[in-house]
Amino acid sequence: MADRKVDLILPGDEGMELPLQSPTLGNDVINIQNLSGKGYFTYDPGFVSTASCESTITYIDGAEGVLLYRGYPIEQLAEHSDFAEVSYLLMNGELPNVQQKQEFQDKLNNHTLVHEQMRNFFNGFRRDAHPMAIMCGVVGALSSFYHDSLDVNDPTCRETAAFRLIAKMPTIAAMCYKYSIGLPFMYPQNSMGYAENFLNMMYATPTETTTPNPVLANAMDKIFILHADHEQNASTSTVRLAGSTGANPFACISAGIAALWGPAHGGANEAALNMLMEIGDVSRVGQFIKRAKDKNDPFRLMGFGHRVYKNYDPRAKVMRETCHQVLEEVGLKDDPIFKLALELERIALEDDYFVEKKLYPNVDYYSGITLSAIGIPSAMFTVIFALARTVGWVSHWLEMMSSPELRIGRPRQLYTGSPCRDYIPMKKRT
Ligand code: SDX
Repeated sequence: MADRKVDLILPGDEGMELPLQSPTLGNDVINIQNLSGKGYFTYDPGFVSTASCESTITYIDGAEGVLLYRGYPIEQLAEHSDFAEVSYLLMNGELPNVQQKQEFQDKLNNHTLVHEQMRNFFNGFRRDAHPMAIMCGVVGALSSFYHDSLDVNDPTCRETAAFRLIAKMPTIAAMCYKYSIGLPFMYPQNSMGYAENFLNMMYATPTETTTPNPVLANAMDKIFILHADHEQNASTSTVRLAGSTGANPFACISAGIAALWGPAHGGANEAALNMLMEIGDVSRVGQFIKRAKDKNDPFRLMGFGHRVYKNYDPRAKVMRETCHQVLEEVGLKDDPIFKLALELERIALEDDYFVEKKLYPNVDYYSGITLSAIGIPSAMFTVIFALARTVGWVSHWLEMMSSPELRIGRPRQLYTGSPCRDYIPMKKRT
């Protein structure tokens, strides 16, 4: 497309032309990189109107409720694909053929174990430590075991670190759970699929060989697909910013895990289930809706609303169907919490406040009920989110590190502090 520009009128009749860049999909982008040279910054707390980078991985249309991984709709991937194939797609940009998929799976299988000394690392945590605290520490500590894949400027090292992270997250996540209940760690079984292997490490014991329920393993795999990536969300932006300094990939992913933990982000699935448990009964829904609408009350309807989606989160639709299938399979189809969630959703979506502010259920609203029905304790919900999102974080890290535009991320500010002033000796201070 011909060079498009916008004219910016600046004070004193000075003006400047700014390039207008066209996306494949979505909003045009005004390139403001030269604005600082004219003595101006833009101001955008929360980056509501800011494109931090160029990316080809994931596209979200918040108005229409569309989510594409490398152009493929999330609904189609959830129905037809599996997490290993989606991981290949996110990392490489195309769906794999049979040979490529097998080679990818073989590479993952080479890295599912963690160093045996890693087991000692857990002993430093209290048994009741939140598993996200353990994940932050253990994943960051991986960099101390893999000195051969820390050269972030070497593409081969980057790929090895990527496979190590994706392959080891299920093992580490399951170790967090086993450690919390005092049961022995289980080793990964490379004969199993990614989600099946995770559930086996979570629930098998050395005394009994069990095979995970295929319906639950399939549901877990679908949950991993739904959470795999989501454009430049807070935790992915954290990984990109950390990676832009040249920090090693294990440290970057640990930073992403820390950012995801917040209840406004990946911690919302745990918060949403806790909220539903607190509401307890449909008769109490009204008072909680009232609190959610009260500006003076910090309470928010967890699992509702989204910075980008101003329509139904397409992942929430798939998650609600998956939730229903899991509840059927485990004999909880009349689960009162699920029924409460459906009723709360119905009431909220008919309420003017939520309609006007375009607040719809997001991916976290039904994921907690689903994970709970599978047998996952609520403290592990965000760990599952981090496990799945690792492939997204890694894919964005790989994209950034191979970009010719790579430079350290360094935002500026609107400074409203004190003007320059001289030091005051203590004896002159009042
Ligand atoms: C995830 O970014 C991503 O892509 C994230 C994610 C991913 O996959 O990476 O999709 C995962 O984080 C999903 C979101 C999970 N979080 C929650 O469910 C927590 C509850 N939701 C809210 O905290 C909130 O909706 C956010 C944080 C998700 C979005 O915050 P925004 O975009 O900053 O929205 P806002 O705070 O500006 O809200 C706009 C208005 C406000 O009212 P006004 O000031 O305009 O009067 O809507 C209100 C808010 O008070 N509002 C809510 C609400 N969410 C927004 N009111 C009640 N309950 C809510 N849940």
